[in-house]
Amino acid sequence: MNIGIESLSFFTSRYVLDLRTMAKARGVDAEKVVNGIGQEKMSVPPPGEDVITLAANAGHQALASIDTDSIEMVMFATESATDQSKAGGIYVHNLLKLKPYCRVIELKQACYSGTAGLLLARDMIQQHPERKVLILMSDIARYGLNSAGEITQGAGAIAMVVSSQPKIMTIEPDSGYYTQDVMDFWRPNYRDEALVDGKYSVRIYLKALTESWNLYHQRTRIGFEQFARFCYHLPFSRMAEKAHKHLAKINHIDLSENELATHINDGLIYNREIGNIYTGSLYLSLISMLENNPQDMSNQKVSLFSYGSGCVGELFAGQVLPGYRNYLNSDLHQSLLESRKELSYPEYSDFYNFAYAEDGTTQTMPSFDTGCYRLSQIKDHKRIYEML
Ligand code: COA
Repeated sequence: MNIGIESLSFFTSRYVLDLRTMAKARGVDAEKVVNGIGQEKMSVPPPGEDVITLAANAGHQALASIDTDSIEMVMFATESATDQSKAGGIYVHNLLKLKPYCRVIELKQACYSGTAGLLLARDMIQQHPERKVLILMSDIARYGLNSAGEITQGAGAIAMVVSSQPKIMTIEPDSGYYTQDVMDFWRPNYRDEALVDGKYSVRIYLKALTESWNLYHQRTRIGFEQFARFCYHLPFSRMAEKAHKHLAKINHIDLSENELATHINDGLIYNREIGNIYTGSLYLSLISMLENNPQDMSNQKVSLFSYGSGCVGELFAGQVLPGYRNYLNSDLHQSLLESRKELSYPEYSDFYNFAYAEDGTTQTMPSFDTGCYRLSQIKDHKRIYEML
């Protein structure tokens, strides 16, 4: 039985900061941002946009051609949750008008948890082939102002429907994974901004990649050369270059610049324009690769490496299905990116510094473009959402 991705979409904020604007404001060489880090722009969420509205917008797109009554489970992966108790997916379940006979849970393990959702969904569908799972990965990446991580912020959500009738990609059952207790990136409950030991996180990412690959290869005997494309978790797009050169090296492969570009470049285009979307960033890279690759990828094998600080890594494979292009949302995604409103640096600061009420008073949100859904109010410590 084939199990995999039937439908796949992303949504990102309607507002964007060109990172050259930030570099200028910070007195940083723009070349460092564009070439050293590999980022062009970052999506910035306005007041009234949170991980719930981002996920609802992505979910709305991913469910456009799916019978919503077939969704038996919603997994909401995030590391920027709005509540310590209630699963954010329950708000989205309501906004998307899904049937009540459905499980909803929230998953957390830094940027990795969406992958846990996908692979758990795969196993569940193996047991119950008629059931479909909606996986939402939604995050707002937020670092301290003026910190090294600030230029790697971003905001966005991925929605995918996993089922036994995949149209885009089958997900193969074997994978290699690795866990180690480290403090490379974390966010204590009392903080809005992540703390990160950036250079250490890059080193530990590469270690998790090595260990995950080794286990994957030992279990499957599938080699580097059998993959046509490689997608990586992208905290910033140059991470893919570092990761891919590393993977080639441990496989004793002398990778040419042309091969490097062929293997990874199409998968970097959207991330360079949006920034880090944490849980969804690997899948944004997958969408970018599928939508921007001029070649037909049918029947090709794609390596997917997921990494979540703290840390867990997992490497697995997908096989692209013939006819996949008919099921992509390429035009919608292109117009979403092209129609974003560019922010000035003071506008970015205002969005960043917007304070959500934490004292139970009623706060009505200012009106910004947040797609089809918005957070309209916070009242008595409760978030109130509306469909527009
Ligand atoms: N022109 C071109 N390139 C330049 C440059 C310039 N003027 N100045 C610096 N660079 C290059 C550096 O050589 C370096 O390249 P390299 O990685 O090939 O060595 C790159 O730009 C980054 O410079 P560096 O000084 O190392 O950057 P930094 O101290 O600002 O830190 C990160 C970079 C990525 C560590 C930082 O942005 C960060 O912490 N990001 C968040 C990390 C994260 O999300 N981790 C989550 C888990 S993966």
